[in-house]
Amino acid sequence: MSAIGNLENGLQPPGSILVCYDGDQQQAETFARKYPQIRVLVYRSTSDPPAEPEKVGNTLLVTPGFHGKNVVTLTFEDGKLDGYSATSLGPDFKNDPDVSAIYSDYLHRLDSAHLLQELPRFTTALYAGSASCRNCHEKAYETWAGSGHAHAYKDLNAQGHGLDPDCVSCHVVGLSSKSGFKTLSQTPQFANVGCESCHGPGQAHDLNPRKVLMPTVKPSTCVSCHTVENSPGFEYKTFWTKVSH
Ligand code: HEC
Ligand code: HEC
Ligand code: HEC
Ligand code: HEC
Repeated sequence: MSAIGNLENGLQPPGSILVCYDGDQQQAETFARKYPQIRVLVYRSTSDPPAEPEKVGNTLLVTPGFHGKNVVTLTFEDGKLDGYSATSLGPDFKNDPDVSAIYSDYLHRLDSAHLLQELPRFTTALYAGSASCRNCHEKAYETWAGSGHAHAYKDLNAQGHGLDPDCVSCHVVGLSSKSGFKTLSQTPQFANVGCESCHGPGQAHDLNPRKVLMPTVKPSTCVSCHTVENSPGFEYKTFWTKVSH
């Protein structure tokens, strides 16, 4: 708030202020109209950065795009904008050691804040765990065990994101249920993408398979995890062939 306080008191010289604003483009435009002494206003966006920076009065509005995946460079000559570019941070860019250290510190703080435990649980659906399906569905089990789904949590954990609420839901079974995945040590049977990540909660079927049938899995189930963002190459036909059982 002190930056805003300084804006309101006119303590900052006009034209020198850069503000990182936690709002979208429309809110940023309103904000820029209210505080015309801001020179550069950085806003939040789920799209790519525009080809040219937007101007509201004398204020330049810029964004690093979805998840901050672009670096925006502005150059000034005698106080006037003289260059603008947005560079997408694709795989060609190596991680910066300083930023990586900050990020790894953030991940440690996530772990010690136990944020995953604080996540609201919306259902009481009961899961059985993939191992308990094995007795009766040996062939399906073998196929699954040899697929990437069976080590999805291991791979996530290896990158330090095992307790990161931004990641875990698609790499485990039943995170939205009170009885689903909690932590690897508390609920090892629900780590990784299991049978029930696709088939839905199966405890009732598991206990009484002739009476309680499992619903059919539709392709839309896959894209709840295989989103454009997390699985850009996803195509049902080719992907199903690799895990079909
Ligand atoms: C609960 C989330 C989730 C659902 C639902 C899901 N997947 Fe996946 N899938 C993943 C994750 C996570 C990985 C990456 C696993 C790894 O390698 O760590 C993955 C990887 C894969 C792979 C590559 C791994 C391999 O074994 O070759 C294929 C193929 C795949 N999924 C197909 C599907 C299909 C088809 C569906 C729907 C019938 C589906 N997935 C449903 C999360 C999911
Ligand atoms: C919306 C669901 C979803 C979320 C959220 C998600 N993932 Fe994944 N993840 C997937 C799917 C689907 C795949 C498989 C992609 C493919 O093979 O096309 C995958 C694959 C992976 C893999 C294995 C393949 C690789 O690229 O090495 C890792 C590691 C991974 N994700 C880490 C993460 C991390 C870290 C986060 C959080 C920042 C995260 N995931 C959040 C769905 C998700
Ligand atoms: C005690 C044995 C047993 C266990 C354990 C079991 N199933 Fe089944 N499952 C069956 C039988 C028997 C059928 C065939 C039911 C029918 O067609 O009458 C079946 C059918 C299915 C079907 C086809 C759809 C349907 O309901 O007919 C799916 C999918 C399925 N099981 C998934 C699972 C999953 C996932 C688990 C673990 C959570 C599991 N099963 C555990 C015996 C079992
Ligand atoms: C990636 C998602 C996914 C995972 C993980 C998965 N399945 Fe399936 N399963 C499907 C789809 C899709 C079908 C075909 C459509 C249907 O029958 O629902 C299917 C079909 C089945 C069937 C019916 C086959 C038939 O002939 O009718 C059984 C039984 C089954 N799965 C059991 C399992 C068991 C047991 C596991 C874990 C060891 C498992 N599945 C893991 C997606 C998945």
